[in-house]
Amino acid sequence: MKSVLEFRARKGQAPISMISAHTHWEARLVAESPVDCVLVGDSVVTVIDGEPTTFAATPEIMARHVAAVARGLGDFASRKLVVGDFPFLVARQGRAAAVEVAALLLRAGAHAVKIEGVDGHEDIIAHLVQSGVPVMGHLGLTPQTVHALGGYKVQGRDPSSAAELLRQARALEAAGVFGLVLECVPAPLAREISAKLAVPTIGIGAGEGCDGQVLVMTDLLGLSPGPAPRFVRRFAEAGQAAREALAAFHAAVAAREFPSARESYGGAKE
Ligand code: KIV
Repeated sequence: MKSVLEFRARKGQAPISMISAHTHWEARLVAESPVDCVLVGDSVVTVIDGEPTTFAATPEIMARHVAAVARGLGDFASRKLVVGDFPFLVARQGRAAAVEVAALLLRAGAHAVKIEGVDGHEDIIAHLVQSGVPVMGHLGLTPQTVHALGGYKVQGRDPSSAAELLRQARALEAAGVFGLVLECVPAPLAREISAKLAVPTIGIGAGEGCDGQVLVMTDLLGLSPGPAPRFVRRFAEAGQAAREALAAFHAAVAAREFPSARESYGGAKE
């Protein structure tokens, strides 16, 4: 999938697979996979830098990782759809700041940007869309407002907050988003929102009724340390493979078994 037009056209057709990836090596793997599209999420600062929240992400950090991912995905014409995350509070700093950050991310190689929430910055979203910058929404558990939400909790559990989420989803659609992420929302509510919107929804912890699914690459590879949230499925145990490889390296060094003559220079036969 190479464009937001293809993304939108998938509604009601085949489910969309999206990976949140941050590095060049991850992008190289995604490029060789059938996965549809890539989000360069602001989770980069939690995954790569060990930050406790996504607040540390800045426009410069996001642009640097968008560029690394874009290089890993190949040249622009053949590149899979890349969405770059708007970092903490940028959408609240007015039109000029939002336009500047959108330009930074698109120049770095993104095709679109993702913005958390809607109330109070729907005009910014609409302005970007009207300026030709495709915008993806993000509702439910929005990590940039974790303190206001009282923690990393499932959203929309009671009827009034469920109705509120549906209203926000409609407001995003009215502002012109080409799709939206629903994070940590009860599956029946995510299914209802998905059915009522014309644009695709991408779920993470939102059940199978969404139009697509996203996972963070290191989570699905089994590389993330510590217990994973309930919605994560580890499609590989790369972390265990890495631990075994490190132990084997250490043992080979300790036994003077590595490097072998073949792995060294200067012998009689090279
Ligand atoms: O930052 C991120 O990786 C995200 C996804 C988890 C949706 O926003």
